[in-house]
Amino acid sequence: MVDLRDAIAARARELRAQIDRHNYSYYVLDAPTVPDAEYDRLFRELLELERQFPELVTRDSPTQRVGAAPAPEFRQVAHRTPMLSIHNAFSDQDVEAFDRRARKELELEEIEYALEPKFDGLAISLAYVDGMFEVGATRGDGYTGEDVSANLRTVRSIPLRLRGEPPRRLEVRGEVIINRADFLRMNAQQRQAGEKEFMNPRNAAAGSLRQLDPRMTARRPLRFFAYAIAEQEDKPLPATHSECLEQLRRWGFPVSVEVRVARGFEGLLAYYRDIGARRASLPYEIDGVVYKVNRLADQARLGFVSREPRFALAHKFPAEEVLTELIDIDVQVGRTGALTPVARLKPVVVGGVTVTNATLHNEDEIARKDIRIGDTVIVRRAGDVIPEVVAAVPERRNGQERRFVMPSRCPVCRSHVVRSEEEAVARCSGGLYCPAQHKQALLHFASRRAMDIDGLGEKLVDQLVASDIVKTPADLYKLGLVALASLERMGEKSAANLLSAIEASKTTTLARFIFALGIRNVGEATAKDLANHFGSIEALMMADEMQLQQVPDVGPVVATAIRQFFAEPNNREVVEQLRAAGVHWPQQAASAKKGVGTLAGKTFVLTGTLPSLSREEAKDLLEAAGSKVSGSVSRKTDYVVAGAEAGSKLDRARELGIAVIDEDQLRRLLRSD
Ligand code: IVH
Repeated sequence: MVDLRDAIAARARELRAQIDRHNYSYYVLDAPTVPDAEYDRLFRELLELERQFPELVTRDSPTQRVGAAPAPEFRQVAHRTPMLSIHNAFSDQDVEAFDRRARKELELEEIEYALEPKFDGLAISLAYVDGMFEVGATRGDGYTGEDVSANLRTVRSIPLRLRGEPPRRLEVRGEVIINRADFLRMNAQQRQAGEKEFMNPRNAAAGSLRQLDPRMTARRPLRFFAYAIAEQEDKPLPATHSECLEQLRRWGFPVSVEVRVARGFEGLLAYYRDIGARRASLPYEIDGVVYKVNRLADQARLGFVSREPRFALAHKFPAEEVLTELIDIDVQVGRTGALTPVARLKPVVVGGVTVTNATLHNEDEIARKDIRIGDTVIVRRAGDVIPEVVAAVPERRNGQERRFVMPSRCPVCRSHVVRSEEEAVARCSGGLYCPAQHKQALLHFASRRAMDIDGLGEKLVDQLVASDIVKTPADLYKLGLVALASLERMGEKSAANLLSAIEASKTTTLARFIFALGIRNVGEATAKDLANHFGSIEALMMADEMQLQQVPDVGPVVATAIRQFFAEPNNREVVEQLRAAGVHWPQQAASAKKGVGTLAGKTFVLTGTLPSLSREEAKDLLEAAGSKVSGSVSRKTDYVVAGAEAGSKLDRARELGIAVIDEDQLRRLLRSD
């Protein structure tokens, strides 16, 4: 029996050692050594042994990280060495002055510094006795903190037992943080559970560390980085701070891989720039870098002034999140008609740039975050991204704040604002009419597969819109030579060319016309289907959503978009104007009705060069009439339309005795259809 007990105790020790090694590789070295499943197996085996033999449980067992029972409150702990703050520097001059003073004081030509990231988390102090974790405390007021040992025990990267030969007593300082990726995952879980999301990794870490129930803390992805030895008994400290960090690493503490040693203030600034450039790609958030005079003897000589060490300096990055006042919410109309609420802010410097506007994304976001006009808000600008309003600070409300309502009319053109159920986005429905959408609408209208107006490119559209000559596509057909030739870089010859291209575009097909209108979700194929189905623009404009959904591939989303488009009087007006200007297409029968045209269902093959129609145009006309255009001649072909230099297809048609017609005959067929 005694032997068995010993064997079991030995196995428990063995398991603890293995699990500790895996934890260390994973959390401290950042290099996992076993698959998760294997780790879980070892962990379960240890749990089971400890369940059967509770007397085997040790305080440093990895099973003790899952969290103890909740405490009614945190005990106060006095810090044996105070936890001070560091002086902040915001400019290169501040850094130069810091280095100058230190050199003067130490009577040195050049100083060696240890350089570290300034973690944006929570400062904590960890006390070890005989290599065993004793007490962990928050910073508090610097002299007295709160005992959060039970919570810190759940943090996997904090060693419960030190490696190597640690001193009898050791006090380590460092920061508890949450990695960005873990933070995003954690917030996604909060969202799913219908719980409140955290503002940023720092707040999430703070909230997690101050949980009264350590079992809650255990579920949070907290991590730790050591950055100083505050006290050590019975073993002399190394000569430099960088060696202290090395020592901490050997005892099993995680130390950032970004720590460096450099000389002179140029070395400091080089580090600041290097880390600054890589800031966004670091796994955790930092708010600056910390410079520390490396030799501990020099640190002691420099001493402290008013609670701040003179041997260390925090060089901060420009703040990425600041508070300001939300003066008003404007609504901007984008090129595609999307209405975006934009915050008008009391000007404030964020990330080194003055910000007066910030996006609020959409109506739903504003409601979800309960942001009100007049609120004090948190504005964020990270890297090159557009500034955004992250959240309101409801504690600062005075009752005068107003809720935002999306306007029902477009602020630019007064057309109706619509919002589909699927989208969070409100849109101006005046696609053809709204000045905010002019450019986009005109370019699309003129594009090759729409009205095919040759020569009406982006630069020209810019000019036409800027000079107010063209507002809607209908205005294109009112253009005269004089107005056009007056534009910059527009000769009489190109003006004339453009006018004839515009004139030529008047002859089109219903499908191209529908496509050219730029109705949301109506692409070329849908436009063709709609043309075939309804046969006329009038029928399409009158169709309700049920009728629209009769068309193949038209579902509720497309049907709604079409109905909303034609429901807007401004759009109907433009369609009228276009027809009045002479835009026309061959009459065609609607396949929706009975009495389909004679060309419906017929198969054509085009070959050779036709005198006036391009291959594309002939195809469009035929398809609009309900015919199919095929690439090769077979017994199923009804007509072969042959132009100049027709080749083998013509021979094949003759062989099979299929009707061969020219462009004139084709036009006659189309007219009679
Ligand atoms: S050293 C005597 N090193 O910055 C100097 N502090 O104002 C003691 N911090 O809240 C601090 N990263 O938590 C030091 N690499 C780093 C740091 C760091 C972040 C925080 C610390 C404290 C504040 C000091």
